[in-house]
Amino acid sequence: MIKFTLAGAAVFAVALGAYAVIRFPEQATPVQETTAPAQGAPMVAVTLPEALSAEATMGKRAFDAVCADCHGENAAGKMGFAPPLIHKIYEPSHHGDMAFQMAAANGVRAHHWKFGDMPPQPEVTRADVISITAYIREVQRANGIN
Ligand code: HEC
Repeated sequence: MIKFTLAGAAVFAVALGAYAVIRFPEQATPVQETTAPAQGAPMVAVTLPEALSAEATMGKRAFDAVCADCHGENAAGKMGFAPPLIHKIYEPSHHGDMAFQMAAANGVRAHHWKFGDMPPQPEVTRADVISITAYIREVQRANGIN
């Protein structure tokens, strides 16, 4: 009787193990923590243009001071914060220059991504945003987005 129970328990344990492997494959093969993108990491690889126009150079300065905290260095996006603006979604025909003025003045209700809303950016003037947009467009073009 004891032997029978032990054998039964062994069969049960093996079956349970097999079930766990089939049912929870991601737990059966432990995932390396390091493969998950870190918070704050850039989201896309950005190719920089050889040179920026004077307007875009001013724009980069303003972008770095106000927008890069969320959108990342070179607008490459920042995991956990905000999307890359060097992205096909933000090409001029989908998000015209006016979208940049609206975003800075009114903020953005989250709709394309899951980062939450973008708050309005009262530190920048309309002229700043014209320069920032020129900067983003020049970097977009260097990455085949136009
Ligand atoms: C506090 C973080 C934060 C800051 C600072 C910030 N943004 Fe954003 N921005 C976001 C997020 C998040 C989104 C994405 C919203 C969504 O899900 O579509 C976004 C979206 C945008 C969009 C897309 C608008 C649209 O119509 O979809 C533009 C353009 C933009 N930001 C420009 C800027 C500029 C220019 C600055 C600096 C003046 C800036 N952002 C600063 C968080 C930020």
